Amino acid sequence: MTATHQDEFEALFDPANRAHPYQLYAALRERGPFSRLNGLVGVVGDHDTCSRLLRDPSMSSDRMHSLIGRANNSDAAATAEEGKRAPTVGFLSMDPPDHTRLRRLVSKAFTAKVIAELRPTIQGIVDELVAGVVEDGRLDVVPQLAYPLPVRIISGLLGVPIADHHRFEDWSRRLVRGLDPMAALGSKEELASIESARDDLSEYFFDLIARRRADLGEDLLSKLVLAEEQGDALTEAELVATCILLLVAGHETTANLIANGVLALLRHPDQLAALRANPALIDGTVDEILRYDSPVQLTTRVATEPTTLGSITVPTGGVVLMMLAAANRDPAVFADPDRFDITRDARKHLSFAAGAHFCLGAPLARLEASVALSVFARRIVNPVLAEDSLRYREHINLRGPEQLIVSFDQVLNS
Ligand code: HEM
Repeated sequence: MTATHQDEFEALFDPANRAHPYQLYAALRERGPFSRLNGLVGVVGDHDTCSRLLRDPSMSSDRMHSLIGRANNSDAAATAEEGKRAPTVGFLSMDPPDHTRLRRLVSKAFTAKVIAELRPTIQGIVDELVAGVVEDGRLDVVPQLAYPLPVRIISGLLGVPIADHHRFEDWSRRLVRGLDPMAALGSKEELASIESARDDLSEYFFDLIARRRADLGEDLLSKLVLAEEQGDALTEAELVATCILLLVAGHETTANLIANGVLALLRHPDQLAALRANPALIDGTVDEILRYDSPVQLTTRVATEPTTLGSITVPTGGVVLMMLAAANRDPAVFADPDRFDITRDARKHLSFAAGAHFCLGAPLARLEASVALSVFARRIVNPVLAEDSLRYREHINLRGPEQLIVSFDQVLNS
């Protein structure tokens, strides 16, 4: 039987394919753009089209413009109007002028200078985390390195007490299920779980903000509270949505990048040896990991006018699904794309998207990953991957290992 777009697309949803989706992505990309859901969804996987669409102002990031999202979002919108909850998942899902206004406010906290100053803090946390595994002879990569580093950094930046981490971990993981394709069409239970996670996170931040008002500090939350109090730069609901966006975007993705990086390096010992021999290769290594195993595998936009993509036309209100992970292995842009090569120039990857919504946290994510992976390459002696320990999270979009265990002989002091 000949495989069809439908088969390959459906197969991406099958947890059995979570570990190895790249053949499916290749097949999707090679067949060109195709439609799903009676033409309401267009799926694209080639680099050129994805790159163009991400920069196209006629493509909206606001799911409320979508014929599919509108029905499911109407309850949330009604509650938001009552002022009780955050209206959206933040400016990630907004268009100009609101997107521009909110992004500008937050950008000040993420300049190259501010991020570069975090290096010693990041280094200190990585050293502390690695010191914690010296006696064990094994590293449980996700809970002992990949997850705690970004959580501690983003919590510190925002001013969220690190002790609250156990409270938001589950909410955050449930919330990002909402970024999977067709989440808007998920089962009632799944939608309820995503919504209740958003409600819990919103309440958490409403409460934290109330406490912070009485005791402003130097953190980002205090600065945003001040901006809210000094004028109409952002409403309280926008403030809460922005905090949720930063908290969730700031750690779920970076944890995947670090864990994917450890995995790729261990599966390619020659590349790990090259990095160990030449630490200056770290920046290229991080870009190659982002390309080779994208921490965010796809993103969506809503067409605000009929949009022709190859042989299909997405109608106004239709959704375009851009498979970033497929674009990142497009042979038209990356020679021998399935080869993991830390010396190639991988910077054209779309892992941080492109255009107006280009990832605001990209410099921070790069810095965290480069410090963590440099330490891993330099200090962990004879690391061996326990292949049978590898388990993936259920997420399709924010795809990454849930468990990844590495044994080693020794941890060098520096
Ligand atoms: C490896 C790590 C990361 C990856 C792969 C990643 C990926 C992305 C992607 C693909 C987008 C754009 C989505 C779209 O256009 O639809 C995005 C946006 C965003 N990211 Fe990241 N991200 C990472 C880390 C971070 C970190 C550490 C932060 C913050 C501390 C962050 C904050 C944001 C924000 C605020 C946006 C929204 C930007 C906008 O809409 O203007 N990200 N990210």
